[in-house]
Amino acid sequence: MKRPLPRPFLKWAGGKTQLLHELMARMPAHFRAYHEPFLGGGALFFGLYRAEAVNHAFLSDSNAELIDAYIAIRDHADEVIARLARYPHDEAFYYDLRAQDPWQLALPERAARMIYLNKTGYNGLYRVNRQGKFNVPFGRYKSPRYLDPDNLKAVSRALQTATIRRMRFEEAVGDAQPDDWVYFDPPYAPLSSTAHFTAYQADGFSAQDQARLRDVCLELSDAGVWIMVSNSDTDLIRELYARPPFRIHAVKARRNINSKAAGRGKIQELIITNY
Ligand SMILES: C[S@@+](CC[C@H](N)C(=O)[O-])C[C@H]1O[C@@H](n2cnc3c(N)ncnc32)[C@H](O)[C@@H]1O
Repeated sequence: MKRPLPRPFLKWAGGKTQLLHELMARMPAHFRAYHEPFLGGGALFFGLYRAEAVNHAFLSDSNAELIDAYIAIRDHADEVIARLARYPHDEAFYYDLRAQDPWQLALPERAARMIYLNKTGYNGLYRVNRQGKFNVPFGRYKSPRYLDPDNLKAVSRALQTATIRRMRFEEAVGDAQPDDWVYFDPPYAPLSSTAHFTAYQADGFSAQDQARLRDVCLELSDAGVWIMVSNSDTDLIRELYARPPFRIHAVKARRNINSKAAGRGKIQELIITNY
């Protein structure tokens, strides 16, 4: 029997499953290691793994709880699964678990809590308040799939050789070598100046951060690293990447989390490459 292939184990704001085929179609012809410094749900990493297109991967994100969940599944998948198997789908239990301080829990338990809250919480969002506390209400789904042992085991296998670190993007790409490929999926620039920057966690991602990311892409380009960036189709992003070595590709994407401005239809997004 064929082993199941890994898919993202969390629903993540800005998840790239909808755009996956557009991203995969634009991978460089050859690359050595793969880097994903805004990992989130990791849709492209898992897509590349399923296509047997990735050897060594450097995966990172600034979100500590998220990175710990990846490490827990890589190193302790059976314990995470055992925990989830004991969790009932029940509103009172949800609020009890939500009230627990994740940093008082052991690593596998913290990961199980995050997966459970993510899959059973309203809209499947990871959202924290100003105190850094997860504050999403119970989701009232009929049968949410928070216990998926086959996928967690497949994810664990896919992560065995990956370097997984909590880091900001600038630091994470310090390891990129010539001929490596870096895919940047930052929090998107807002579609209108009145829209709020999406708050993935307590600190947001400002226009200055977008400009710093562009500068990092220029440095990596000079060093012979392949880069791909996804972002919203806005004047800011088009200006930042207007000149060589960058090429801008416009693609249509379906969005349904955090895009009030665009409603739930298709909107245009940008994929930028230096090749
Ligand atoms: C658009 S999401 C990535 C979505 C991901 N590609 C997916 O398919 O689910 C952006 C991610 O960037 C992370 N992030 C925000 N600021 C960051 C920073 N300065 N350095 C590294 N990661 C950051 C957030 O925690 C979030 O997980």
